[in-house]
Amino acid sequence: MDEASLVVERRSDRVIARLNRPAKRNAIDREMIDALHALCDELETDPRTLILTGSAGTFAAGADIAQLRARRADDARQGINANAFIRIHELPMPVIAALDGYALGGGAELAYAADIRIATPSTKIGNPETGLGIIAAAGATWRLREIVGEALASEMLLTGRLLTADEALTAGLVSAVHASDQLLAAAHLIADRVAANDPLATQHTKRALRAPRDAHPRIDGELQAELFESPAKMRRMTDFLERRGGRRRWACWAEGAWARG
Ligand code: COA
Repeated sequence: MDEASLVVERRSDRVIARLNRPAKRNAIDREMIDALHALCDELETDPRTLILTGSAGTFAAGADIAQLRARRADDARQGINANAFIRIHELPMPVIAALDGYALGGGAELAYAADIRIATPSTKIGNPETGLGIIAAAGATWRLREIVGEALASEMLLTGRLLTADEALTAGLVSAVHASDQLLAAAHLIADRVAANDPLATQHTKRALRAPRDAHPRIDGELQAELFESPAKMRRMTDFLERRGGRRRWACWAEGAWARG
């Protein structure tokens, strides 16, 4: 039996989803989109950090062009890839995209839907859609602009120019560049940092980040109100204060003992 086009590894605090059509440079086909929807079902019910990664030195070379060619106007209006990427963007816990090699077209748009993107020196990211006679309709026209600003987004989308890893780093499109063999470990380190924090505070932060400008500051107050009553906040703040108190008492004792000789 063929291996699944999306290979999912589940852990208690994170899920790692690997795009897995290496012979087609992980081109995103309908089966992969269905698998991403199924993963969203799972992560909406049982929120965990998601790490998205590719295989064989490629993140994804775009939507599957063979399937795209067969799609017609009604398919375009369904937003097949766009809707899946919106769900990924709106997952309750952080989404980390680990980009090795090409992240093109729909592959780039999947990466734009993540909260955090990291790359390798071989990363090439961008949207060559106009060269295929279509627009980048799965998020690039609005999400890329939000991430890198209108000037660079316009240049990338209107010319199809791909960014190198260094250019993506300078533009803030990725937050770090790691050697290829360190990429997944770096993604896990980010997930470790998330896991050390309070999950509800992380989810509320994401909710506030996603809220439209005119929802602030009311939404921040509402989310904080819930957290101010949470046992986790009491415990975490008490732990902090008692740890400091303990350190101060120990420092006083040590100073006294030294003075006494
Ligand atoms: N959709 C469908 N198939 C794709 C694909 C895509 N987006 N990208 C690559 N493939 C397939 C190729 O057709 C080829 O299949 P084959 O072996 O059956 O002929 C296989 O993947 C390998 O691709 P190839 O072009 O030989 O690999 P490469 O390493 O020389 O080049 C790329 C890699 C990414 C530069 C090149 O594949 C490419 O330009 N892909 C399309 C990029 C694109 O326009 N994406 C936007 C789509 S919206």
